[in-house]
Amino acid sequence: METPLMSSFLVIVHLLILMFYLGGGNAIESPQYTVVLSESDFEVRLYRETSWISAPVQGTSSFKKATKDGFHRLYKYIHGSNLNSSIIPISAPVLTTINASSPNEGGSEYYVRLFLSAIYEKPPLPSPELNLQLFKWKSHCIAVREFSGFAKDDNINKELEALKNSLNKQVDGKTSMVEDKSSYSIAQYNSSREPTERLNEVWINVSGSAAEGCLNHK
Ligand SMILES: *[C@@H]1O[C@H](CO)[C@@H](O)[C@H](O)[C@H]1NC(C)=O
Ligand SMILES: *[C@@H]1O[C@H](CO)[C@@H](O)[C@H](O)[C@H]1NC(C)=O
Ligand SMILES: *[C@@H]1O[C@H](CO)[C@@H](O)[C@H](O)[C@H]1NC(C)=O
Ligand SMILES: *[C@@H]1O[C@H](CO)[C@@H](O)[C@H](O)[C@H]1NC(C)=O
Repeated sequence: METPLMSSFLVIVHLLILMFYLGGGNAIESPQYTVVLSESDFEVRLYRETSWISAPVQGTSSFKKATKDGFHRLYKYIHGSNLNSSIIPISAPVLTTINASSPNEGGSEYYVRLFLSAIYEKPPLPSPELNLQLFKWKSHCIAVREFSGFAKDDNINKELEALKNSLNKQVDGKTSMVEDKSSYSIAQYNSSREPTERLNEVWINVSGSAAEGCLNHK
């Protein structure tokens, strides 16, 4: 039940978050990586082991709908719907993973994710009704292509194909990578209130041992 005291507490919390946002442009944390290959139209990054909070979404074939539904639940989690009632700072990007190899009745299988800062060695457990999962990535390599504007159902496939083409060219050239064909992700770095200068990326896992910088030199 929401008491008046609690409501005013929530208002203060929201004001603090707003001040945090306005306070510093670089205050929002992102997962860390090193660049192991840099080309004109894509790069390969080695990401460290990281923790994420993940919202599975099913029953739609719309990337936009899935992202909205998943982000709504993640937003509740970081605003206190967790077993510790902790307020967790927002991170970037909002990552939507699309599993192409599991098209089910109602559409594809999606996971919408937010990175959890390393300060949470044990991140708070989500409230069960949100149907969220804590998720740990091993260190691995990702091929990344940037694009601007809004990420939408009618432009993400074009960006995905462009990245795949770049990777295939690379395979014919001096290096070879094995891409994961079953799934890919769209990373969005800006809130929907920012209409210009938006940064998005399409990500595909690529393999090779991390020690060799992901690439198998011929
Ligand atoms: C994608 O779906 C397939 C089939 O259900 C499953 O085997 C695979 O693990 C899924 N991949 C990811 C990244 O969730
Ligand atoms: C959550 O609460 C438990 C029990 O009070 C505590 O042991 C744990 O450290 C807390 N975790 C976080 C991430 O705050
Ligand atoms: C990429 O690889 C990581 C680490 O193996 C895995 O946890 C993640 O599900 C993969 N992501 C996609 C989109 O397949
Ligand atoms: C969008 O996010 C990117 C990456 O964090 C940042 O460089 C850019 O300034 C942001 N755009 C706006 C309009 O804030």
